[in-house]
Amino acid sequence: MKALQEKIRTEGRALSEDVLKVDSFLNHQIDPVFMQEIGQEFARRFKDENITKIITLESSGITPAVMTGIELGVQVVFARKSKSLTLQDGLITSSVYSFTKEESKEISISSDFINENDRVLVIDDFLANGQAALGLMQMVAKANAQLVGIGIVIEKAFQNGGMKLRENDVRVESLAQISSMAKGKITFVEEEAL
Ligand code: G4P
Ligand code: NA
Ligand code: NA
Repeated sequence: MKALQEKIRTEGRALSEDVLKVDSFLNHQIDPVFMQEIGQEFARRFKDENITKIITLESSGITPAVMTGIELGVQVVFARKSKSLTLQDGLITSSVYSFTKEESKEISISSDFINENDRVLVIDDFLANGQAALGLMQMVAKANAQLVGIGIVIEKAFQNGGMKLRENDVRVESLAQISSMAKGKITFVEEEAL
């Protein structure tokens, strides 16, 4: 998605070879008008899949998921990272390992909001090592729902999450794929071939 590459170039900052800061529109401040375009693009790619539900992980996945939900006219469920006071029974859980924090976290969604009749689209902001996506996929499987695909705003293609997911025959649609980063320079996969 050209507009996203442009946005990343103008507003993003490579903090190192593997961390991209996009706080001005996605991870802290949110640019709603731009994020609406993101939702439209995901919807365009998945419109023929009869999706009934979108699943994401709090917090930064919520914006692109909701924007897509508006376009597809379906409900959005975000997995929680901490136990909720009101959410206790009928939880579907999964464990997500963080390489950066070197710890596993339990994430959960209520079984009230996903069932075996659902055709699910998983949406997230970043794809790095794929642990979050794998955790969300596991919950879809536990609910006996059908996973239709995964929509990612920014894939860091130099990390192995995308490969892991595609190896499992999962349809992964990433709106921007970064092939490498250096301080001050971000290269996208398409440019790599040039
Ligand atoms: P990883 O080991 O699979 O790489 O992921 P890890 O669990 O360490 O990721 C921690 C958080 O950092 C996740 O957000 C993930 O989306 C995000 N992340 C991974 N790579 C980048 C990056 O290059 N730039 C930015 N901005 N974020 C990245 P989270 O903890 O779930 O936080 P949030 O959803 O509340 O924002
Ligand atoms: Na995320
Ligand atoms: Na994040």
